[in-house]
Formats: sequence, C-alpha cells, structure tokens
Amino acid sequence: MLGRIRDRGLADLPTLIGWSYRGGLRWRSSSEVVRGGRNLTSERVVKEHRHLEDLFEALSRTFVAEASDENVWEAFEELSNELHAHFDQEDQLYFPAIWALKPELKEPMEELARRHDMFRDQLRRIGDHLGHGDLEGAAGVFHTVDRLFRVHEQLEEQILERLESELELEE
Ligand SMILES: [Fe+2]
Ligand SMILES: [Fe+2]
Repeated sequence: MLGRIRDRGLADLPTLIGWSYRGGLRWRSSSEVVRGGRNLTSERVVKEHRHLEDLFEALSRTFVAEASDENVWEAFEELSNELHAHFDQEDQLYFPAIWALKPELKEPMEELARRHDMFRDQLRRIGDHLGHGDLEGAAGVFHTVDRLFRVHEQLEEQILERLESELELEE
C-alpha cells in the first residue's frame, strides 16, 4: 500500500484512502465510497485486521505444534512485518485522514496510536527471545500481544463504525 502510494504520488492519496477534494477535503459521495455500508478507509482497516488475525493464528499454530525454529521465525517475521506496515499506515495515513474530517475523534484515536509503540516494543521482545532460541519466552509475550491486539482492533472498528454512521447522518 505505502509502495503504491509512493509510486502514484501524493496527488492520488485522497483517492486511495477514499476522500476527494471538492471544495476542500470531503468524504466522497456514498455511491462512490460506501459499499455495503462501509467506506474505503474502514474497509481497508477491517480487511487488514482480518488478515492479521490469520497471521496471528498461523504463528500460534507453530508454537502449539512445536514446529522447527525456522517455521516459527518465518511465521513471526511475516506477522511482524505486516503489523509494522499496518501500524505505520494507521499512524501516517488512515488516522490523520479521519482527524481531518472529524477532529473530535483525534483524542481517542491518538490513544490507540500510542498503543502501536507498545506493540512494536512487544514484537521486538518476541524477536529477542527467538533470537536466543527461547521459544517459551517468545510464546509468552506472543500470547499477551495476541490478546491485546484483539481488544485494540475492536476499539478501532467501533470508532470506524461510529464515524460511518455519523457520516451517513450528515449525507
Ligand atoms: Fe491500530
Ligand atoms: Fe488497526
């Protein structure tokens, strides 16, 4: 996603995240953006969450199956890379776009963005444990991250749902 934005240049940014310029930064019309009640930004965030859940489950399975170190590393690296990309997109792209439209959401969403640093830190800890061959230590931190991420994504999705219903009322 970020690569695509770089390729296409910043002029396309509003289109990519579902906004358009029409006398200022405005939500695009419902026919353009809302599909099944979901706008593009929400759709993307929710889709990424479901994908990340799959990656959490894949790593969880390697711990349960006591797979080889290589399999655990592979599953961890994939989850870690995708989580970092997701957090970066929310911090730099999705959340600021929402704040521009709904400044009252900035405070609760800043709190969620601060949580990203905690997750980044926990991922580093899992990597350290794995680097020392400590699978048990890695699994311990992983299960905490797994549980906290579920709560985190639910809070984000609740905010996005609130945003959508407010925008629908304004239309
Ligand atoms: Fe997040
Ligand atoms: Fe998220």
